Amino acid sequence: MTTDGKKTILSGIKPTGNLNIGGYLGAVKNWVELQNEYNCFYCIADLHALTIRIDPSMLRKNALELFALYIACGIDPEKNILFFQSHVSQHSELSWVLDCYTMFGELSRMTQFKDKSAKNTQNVNAGLFTYPVLMAADILLYQADLVPVGEDQRQHLEICRDIASRFNSVYGEVFTLPEAYTPKVGARIKSLTSPTQKMSKSDDDENGTINLLDNKDTVIRKFKKAVTDSQACVKFSEGKDGINNLITIYSAVTGKTFTEIENEFSGRGYGEFKLTVGEAVADMLSPIQEKYKTLISDKAQLEKIYRNGADKARYTANKTLSKVYRKVGLVSR
Ligand code: TYM
Repeated sequence: MTTDGKKTILSGIKPTGNLNIGGYLGAVKNWVELQNEYNCFYCIADLHALTIRIDPSMLRKNALELFALYIACGIDPEKNILFFQSHVSQHSELSWVLDCYTMFGELSRMTQFKDKSAKNTQNVNAGLFTYPVLMAADILLYQADLVPVGEDQRQHLEICRDIASRFNSVYGEVFTLPEAYTPKVGARIKSLTSPTQKMSKSDDDENGTINLLDNKDTVIRKFKKAVTDSQACVKFSEGKDGINNLITIYSAVTGKTFTEIENEFSGRGYGEFKLTVGEAVADMLSPIQEKYKTLISDKAQLEKIYRNGADKARYTANKTLSKVYRKVGLVSR
């Protein structure tokens, strides 16, 4: 809790590819909704992006575009602290300390580590293994109460709480224990072409993913190609992964309940439904894209915002890090 009585939020996204509607509906939309009630820190998790091999100029481009997209999605830089993780060195410093309070066994059980190392056997690096510890440092530095994320990050939030509790049990109440906050609808958006898999920035099939910067024609084309089933009945039920995903997306975008959607499309075919979902998504993206165009063309203004954000973030982060260093017994600088 900060002096103004508001609780604190921290969240972030890795700039490893284009932001898609999974990340938007699962996380960023909530960030926008929560920004008035909380003190919010939103970072670009660029250090996390180093766990995969990525062309340096592409990483820089992705990171800046993602930063502009945060604002274009409605995150007000006047109200929130927006920054690059790598600009606040306390993240890496706390991460090292927390590494020493995290067990090999618990990191080995992380499903994202297991999935990612199985998918990319050539590059199972130590950073991929300790990834959740850096994420814990991101959160704990700001004493975050709430972390709005998609469902896939829940396990990382649990280990963050475990690390914080372990540290607190030795040194007293140093860290706030954060809660994950996931949306009721949209916490796990699936790929349009492989609807048992999550929609992901790293998907090789670009038809599976709707990026925030896809134009209307592309959005509609991808929805038309979305994998469904042969029943031609818009109803949310077990085994209909493709249709369930489209109903979920439509619900998250329009706010309509599943029952309302089923009634609206009763007796109508999948073709019509896919087109309606595609149009709703394109309409949602259009104002974001307009705002993005203006923002990305003014790099000097973006720089002003992220420098200012990092200055503010550093101030809070340093308070926590100094306390941690003192508690563990390091001689003060
Ligand atoms: P990342 O970059 O993979 O995803 C960013 C956010 O989007 C959510 N998300 C989804 N939600 C619903 N459906 C999907 N298909 C989907 N895909 C992604 C993710 O759950 C996440 O909330 N480790 C984090 C980044 C991070 C972070 C943090 C998050 C670094 N430090 C501190 C919170 C707090 C990650 O890789 O997210």
